[in-house]
Amino acid sequence: MRYEGWHAVVNKLKAFTGRSGKRATSSDGVAGADAEAQLISNALGRAAKEAMIIHTDNFGRVTWLGRPVWQNLTDIWTLQEAICADGVDFVIECGTNMGGSAFFFASIFDLLQRGHVVTIDVEQLATFTHPRITFLHGSSTDPKILTQIPDLIAEHGAKKPMVFLDSDHSAGHVLAELRAYSQFVPVGCYMMVQDGVIDELELFADSRPGPLVAIRDFLATDDRFEIDEERSSRYLLTHSPDGWLRRRR
Ligand SMILES: C[S@@+](CC[C@H](N)C(=O)[O-])C[C@H]1O[C@@H](n2cnc3c(N)ncnc32)[C@H](O)[C@@H]1O
Repeated sequence: MRYEGWHAVVNKLKAFTGRSGKRATSSDGVAGADAEAQLISNALGRAAKEAMIIHTDNFGRVTWLGRPVWQNLTDIWTLQEAICADGVDFVIECGTNMGGSAFFFASIFDLLQRGHVVTIDVEQLATFTHPRITFLHGSSTDPKILTQIPDLIAEHGAKKPMVFLDSDHSAGHVLAELRAYSQFVPVGCYMMVQDGVIDELELFADSRPGPLVAIRDFLATDDRFEIDEERSSRYLLTHSPDGWLRRRR
């Protein structure tokens, strides 16, 4: 049975509390009998995410095979599912940090016996090497970095690259990355934009405008891409709402 998100949770809660027959209207465009459920479900979803982020210290202590990886667990699971389902054979990552996510991708590629990762960061914080990872140092939008990407894709004979944006999450930088890296994504492949939660939760208000604003601005001027809503909300509790952008043409 498919669970219909926070909405279903709220309806269940209302049934438990005997409020299921109550009708309500709201001022945010939601109308009719479901208005109250919609408002509560949005609030409940935000509250649950906030609780998870605070409880896990924003995933700051998560590890993958012993290495720190700064990722929400549901999102990283969706990533491995996508890599397998789509036949991804190359990951272009902006934002290496300590290399945890690059190491995660490389581990999946080890198991699949294919694939390579190029990861880019302004800082050199990763202290390991891996045969499936190329570390580049510089800003993700620096032409000196961007010009190296096609050669790396060709060198590894990759046919299905995936772009993974997890560097500076300010809207301006993410928009620049989306515009610069979209050229590396073939039809049917994806750009995954991390941390749109910044624009959703009050907790991150100081870091706005963030990735969701960049996604909206990018899609307004580039109709080759669309949001894969199913994948973006795969496990409900995501750090990256509307984060999976599929190249459709
Ligand atoms: C959220 S962390 C990356 C976490 C990592 N992907 C992981 O899951 O373990 C963001 C990283 O982006 C880097 N960064 C910030 N601005 C950047 C830029 N313009 N280009 C490349 N990397 C940048 C920071 O130095 C930081 O290490």
